[in-house]
Amino acid sequence: VFILGLETSCDETSAAVVEDDRRILSSVVASQADLHAKWGGVVPEVASRMHVERTLPVIIEALEQARCTPEDLAGIAVTNRPGLVGALVVGVACAKALAYAWRKPLIGVHHLVGHVHAAPLADRWLSFPFLCLVVSGGHTELIVAEGPDSFYCVGRTRDDAAGECFDKAARLLGLPYPGGPALERLAREGNREAVSFPRAWLQHSLDFSFSGLKTAVARYVARPDPSVTQADIAASLQAAIVDVLVTKTILAAEATGIRKVAIAGGVAANETLASEFRAACKAKGYDATVPPKELCTDNAAMIAAAAYRRLRRGEADDLNLDVVATEYLPLRSVK
Ligand code: KG4
Ligand code: ZN
Repeated sequence: VFILGLETSCDETSAAVVEDDRRILSSVVASQADLHAKWGGVVPEVASRMHVERTLPVIIEALEQARCTPEDLAGIAVTNRPGLVGALVVGVACAKALAYAWRKPLIGVHHLVGHVHAAPLADRWLSFPFLCLVVSGGHTELIVAEGPDSFYCVGRTRDDAAGECFDKAARLLGLPYPGGPALERLAREGNREAVSFPRAWLQHSLDFSFSGLKTAVARYVARPDPSVTQADIAASLQAAIVDVLVTKTILAAEATGIRKVAIAGGVAANETLASEFRAACKAKGYDATVPPKELCTDNAAMIAAAAYRRLRRGEADDLNLDVVATEYLPLRSVK
């Protein structure tokens, strides 16, 4: 079945048409990154206003690229939680209006469950259960995708998200927003052993903590070693973040006994993370899934895919569907 997906939870206005939860017919993403760059971060009010302007054009383009008409659609999926409320409201209001006008079922999707669905979209043979590290600007969570309707978290950040750490460190190094990709580029010329930044292992827990690392970079930048370049700092910081992310993901796979492991979310676009994650999985004999960059960063294809099972069962949300700023997935302790 064909599903129209909509995603407006942060600064990407996106629409996509997906067949079931496996095949992308179109995926259109209008990024606002350049608009927010001069403020050094996402300005919620600006994001909401841009979503208002862009949502319908993006939907029309997604339908055209997929050569779909509204009649072909089995339903409309939209991110309704968690995220910036003003931004979410735009997508949800638009999805409701279309669902009502076109008489289609409406499905509200949890943004993180959406990110997890980048994995089955990237690897159409991937079956449940699998483990997925979702790492983005707002989240760092180890999620067990137990079955198509069962997602729980076995570890999450206690403070900053990994992407937030990339972004804040990049800012301290004078790099433009969004900092993650800029820091990765700079790190290519650096020596990752130059500075030994701390790793918060949080023994006996699958949780993460990145706020200390950000502070360590701030302290280092305030009193730099003249023999250490900016690129060295970037490479050392990236190594510290990647080290913790990969080690804890493997620990989670061991603790749960799940041998299929994926990464998703904006930070999964980082090539050092991807290659170290692949190598660590290979050493353990685990199947690794690393979706292409465009499926890792925010997109509506993952949202449409996440709605497939509920739609197929004939379920739908009603037109009172609300938005939610914060909603965690259930937490289960496995360690
Ligand atoms: O998933 P996403 O597009 O939006 C959120 O839901 O947050 O993730 C954006 C985050 C930002 O913090 C950005 O700096 C980071 O992902 N990011 C990267 C890379 N590309 C994006 N971090 C490190 N290396 C990258 N190549
Ligand atoms: Zn996201």
